[in-house]
Amino acid sequence: MISQALLQAILSEYPLPPGGTHGVSHWARVLENGRRLAELTGADLQIVELFAVFHDSRRLNEGIDDGHGMRGAAYARVLRGAHFELDEAAFKLLSEACADHTLGMRQADPTVQVCWDADRLDLGRAGISPVPQLLCTPAAQDLTMIGWAHERSLRRFIPDLVEVEWGIRLDSGGSTPK
Ligand SMILES: [Fe+2]
Ligand SMILES: [Fe+2]
Repeated sequence: MISQALLQAILSEYPLPPGGTHGVSHWARVLENGRRLAELTGADLQIVELFAVFHDSRRLNEGIDDGHGMRGAAYARVLRGAHFELDEAAFKLLSEACADHTLGMRQADPTVQVCWDADRLDLGRAGISPVPQLLCTPAAQDLTMIGWAHERSLRRFIPDLVEVEWGIRLDSGGSTPK
């Protein structure tokens, strides 16, 4: 599980509004998509949860932002050891998942595939419907899964874990730590 200290560290350096399109509620929906997919696929949940909070953490804008995945991976390396522990093999997968999440790839380690699918299932917030053929795993391609995640994405649903696990209270324009 992601610690509140890690979340606060990431948010303290996040250049965009925490309540924005690629901010905290997106990270939390990606995390919950990932939890569902990990249960069905056996993906490494710790890597999936870390991906959820790092992959868009170094965005500089809410549009096309080349290199933000690489910067997210580099930032994870900076915070590793201080705010979370991960062995080298697992860190390599986290790094690959973050760095390449914008490339539209489908072939990768099963845990990396789940990371990418968890993110792609939340495209509805940007007006894009997930296409099964562009998802990596059968678990994500399942139409019930797509429907569940897409509906939440469209209405920018804020999962309870934002407050319960991360201690963050989101309002429309930003966030206030509890
Ligand atoms: Fe991204
Ligand atoms: Fe994302």
